[in-house]
Order: sequence, then C-alpha cells, then structure tokens
Amino acid sequence: MQMRETLIAAARSMAGLGINQGKAGNLSLRTPAGMLITPSAIPYEELTPAQLALMPFDAEYGTFHGPNRPSSEWRFHRDIMAARPEVGAIVHTHAPYATALAMARREIPACHYMIARFGGAPIRVAGYALFGTAELSEQVLIALQDRSACLMANHGFVTTGATLDAAMLAAVELEALARQYMLSLSIGGPVLLSEPEVQAAIRQFATAYAS
Ligand code: 13P
Repeated sequence: MQMRETLIAAARSMAGLGINQGKAGNLSLRTPAGMLITPSAIPYEELTPAQLALMPFDAEYGTFHGPNRPSSEWRFHRDIMAARPEVGAIVHTHAPYATALAMARREIPACHYMIARFGGAPIRVAGYALFGTAELSEQVLIALQDRSACLMANHGFVTTGATLDAAMLAAVELEALARQYMLSLSIGGPVLLSEPEVQAAIRQFATAYAS
C-alpha cells in the first residue's frame, strides 16, 4: 500500500507545484508486481489506493488489475518501462509553459546548463498523435532517445526518473526551464551553449551529483 499512497501523494502535489491542473496528466511507478498507474479520468483528490491500476509486465499487453481502467496513456508508460530498464517512474503533465512550447512545436535548445540533467540538447518535441494511442507512444519513445524527458506536440510532456521523486523533480525542473526559455525568447532569445559546453555540463552532473 505504501507505493500506492506515495503515487497518489505525488499526483496530488502536481497542481500546487504548478506543473498540472485539473485531471490532466498521469503517473506510473515500477513495482516488483508490475507497473502501478493512475486510473483514467478520476480526480486525484478522490483517488484511493485501491483504484490505482496494476499492469504486470509478464502478462499480455494491456492486462491490468484493479476496479478502474488505467490511464488512457498506459501504452507510453508501459512502453517506456519496457524499453528503458533504468526508468522506475514516469510523470506526464500538461504544465503550462512546457505545453505552450509543445503547442508551438518548439524544442528546448541548449539555453541553460540544466539541459544536461535531461541527457543533453535539445529536449525534443514528440510528433503529434492522438492521446491514448500506440502512435503517440511510438513518437514519445523516439523523442526520448538518449533523453530523460520530452515535450509532446500540442499536448504536454513526459519526464522519467529512477524513482518517483526523481521523475517529479525532473517535471518541476523541466517546467522551470521552459518558463526561463520563454522569458529569454521575449527579450531577444538566449545565447545557446555549444555542444562541448553541454557535454561538460553532463560530465559535471555525473560527478557533482553522483550518489
Ligand atoms: P487519463 O485521465 O486517461 O490519464 O488522461 C489524461 C491525459 O492527460 C491524457 O493525455
């Protein structure tokens, strides 16, 4: 039950963190029994631990346990976890600034060294596909190549992390980066870091924040 409560607490915290609103978004967490994921269309405030869907990794694709259907976006959560064993949790939101960039289909370039914590520049925009589809999952996986996050055209973003705390922190930091980038665009646009500067920042992250 602890993991279920932790997932619900994270979902509820998103509005206060300024990274989501209403019932948009969804979260998942890798557990020994499979992927725990928020159910579709239930307000986070009303969510109870038993309502989370559990999707075992070794069962037929789409199989879930629980009284409610998993998030309509279960495919990309499931596909990311299958393709990326280092990913323990995934956060999907419609955070305002990052979503504004995603609506304009503008990737985030090397405008700040924090881009390094997402694996490098740019943070890509996944091609548009209808929400809840296998096509959207394909596009998200392509945009996530060598990255821990991506924007999603006319939709929102996805962040991943080894833990739920890490995926949530990445969501907060991606929204902040999107906001900073847009502010910078409003005064003429950022001077971009070079690829060697981005690579140096990636190395610095690995040493400065190594556990
Ligand atoms: P769900 O309620 O099905 O999780 O959908 C919300 C959403 O953001 C779809 O992209």
